[in-house]
Amino acid sequence: MASLALGVLVSGRGSNLQSIIDAIAAGTLDAHIAVVISNKEEAFGLERAKTNGISAVYIDPKPFKEQPNPREAYDHAVLAALKSYGVELVILAGYMRIVTSVFISAFESKMMNIHPSLLPSFPGLHAQKQALDWGAKVSGCTVHFVTEGMDEGPIILQSAVPVLKDDTDETLSVRILEQEHRIYPEAIQLYGEGRLIIEGRRTQIAESVK
Ligand code: GAR
Repeated sequence: MASLALGVLVSGRGSNLQSIIDAIAAGTLDAHIAVVISNKEEAFGLERAKTNGISAVYIDPKPFKEQPNPREAYDHAVLAALKSYGVELVILAGYMRIVTSVFISAFESKMMNIHPSLLPSFPGLHAQKQALDWGAKVSGCTVHFVTEGMDEGPIILQSAVPVLKDDTDETLSVRILEQEHRIYPEAIQLYGEGRLIIEGRRTQIAESVK
């Protein structure tokens, strides 16, 4: 049987994309990346895709601004691209756009996001700085299914990272990112094995049948 077809959406440097590419190459993730799509032409994630022989598509949001519902219109274009590449699971990897219901309903329970905090704490931008500003003693990262709310949806995996006394936004972000690179491929593998069962706002992880 063909391996799980991923469509990865990026807006920036794409280090999470790289961790997925690496896990596939290492044989710990049984999937292939059918396409990488970005809303930013300069996103380094597109370069990473090309370097690894993966289709890289930039979809410019500007032309859609003329339309009555620019966000929906843009998402229709992204959806069409994902479908044309036969994508089965959508991976948001530093994709800094709010996705509309057009998109979410088309890939309901088939779209994941990673966020650099222990959700539901610190959704939105600058999650690491929010953790520092609140004096949190522990932060981390979360992989979750995407639903309508921003950085919401059933939690799949989390990893906790202590916040150290001398941490800056940068040092904390680096330590959280290491964990992101570990748990995102793991969550995708669990999905591919059919072990993620959504029950309301929870995700149950079924035992391995191996
Ligand atoms: C990651 O830290 C990811 O968790 C965060 O953007 C960064 C992207 O890095 N995503 C969010 O904040 C989503 N709300 P990357 O481009 O190197 O993967």
